[in-house]
Amino acid sequence: MRRINSKHRILVLGASGFLGNAIYKELCSYFKTFGTFCTDNSEYQNNKHFFQYTAEEDDIIEILEAVKPSIIISAIRGNFTAQIIAHQHIADYLKSHSCKIIFLSSANVFDAYSKYPSYENDKTLSNSVYGHFKIKIENLLLRLPKTKVAVLRLPMVFGSHSPRIKDIKTSLKEKTPIEIFPNLIMNVTTDSKVTQQVHYIINQNKYGVFHLGSKDLVHHDDFIKDIVTTLNHHKPSFKHVFTTNNDRYLAVLPKDNKLPKHLQLYSQEIIEELDI
Ligand SMILES: NC(=O)c1ccc[n+]([C@@H]2O[C@H](COP(=O)([O-])OP(=O)(O)OC[C@H]3O[C@@H](n4cnc5c(N)ncnc54)[C@H](OP(=O)(O)O)[C@@H]3O)[C@@H](O)[C@H]2O)c1
Repeated sequence: MRRINSKHRILVLGASGFLGNAIYKELCSYFKTFGTFCTDNSEYQNNKHFFQYTAEEDDIIEILEAVKPSIIISAIRGNFTAQIIAHQHIADYLKSHSCKIIFLSSANVFDAYSKYPSYENDKTLSNSVYGHFKIKIENLLLRLPKTKVAVLRLPMVFGSHSPRIKDIKTSLKEKTPIEIFPNLIMNVTTDSKVTQQVHYIINQNKYGVFHLGSKDLVHHDDFIKDIVTTLNHHKPSFKHVFTTNNDRYLAVLPKDNKLPKHLQLYSQEIIEELDI
């Protein structure tokens, strides 16, 4: 049995989701860890460490006052306006409490730049609704004292239990086409790497903006085809989606706020993980 570290009380918003749940499971044997879920679920409803929370309806402050977290990890989806208001309330709470936030952001905060990969201190710019929404929350958090905030910008997250891999498997089974974006150059990661990175950021009390994509860049179509081959499927059908005629980058590379080598990854490791 590992000893629970009383140093932190952690609240994972979205602990029933793909990444939130992986993070919850990684941390719960080490820290007093709590989580939120949104959709009715008897398993969570009967678990005293879980709180039902719907951003559009519930006041996040009530959960914060019940849990008294020293670290909040934000991994929710849902209505954008409700999420922005919830993060404004969280920011007010952080100002007056000994507490920090780890916010899962996205490479989409750079989706208006297409010619280069992006680094931590580059100015964010988006022309998508999703990218704008993430920038808005990042900016409101980045106005707080800097040691209280870690913004983790993630590229597409794969991993054997990820919704993306499940969707590919479903398409192969049902013989429906898999969408590929031949002009998209990106980097990638897995849930298992993200959870290790979050654990390290907590243990080492790190803060700032982190770019958590693989060290190498891949073409979306090549990467998806490699996955399909690894899944041992030989007659897939693909739907080519061309959003521009030129190559377009959507990649978050680390430069100024790097994690140690064992927490960095190459895209090939994701393929190898699927092959097990
Ligand atoms: N997965 C990726 O490839 C990726 C890439 C970049 C960034 N991110 C970011 O990482 C975070 C987690 O993503 P994910 O892929 O793990 O998402 P997910 O699997 O869809 O999980 C979303 C979580 O949010 C909860 N939720 C949904 N609607 C809600 C609402 N209205 N109010 C409160 N909670 C709500 C869900 O609860 P129920 O399941 O109980 O309904 C679930 O716990 C998101 O902020 C996303 O933008 C993900």
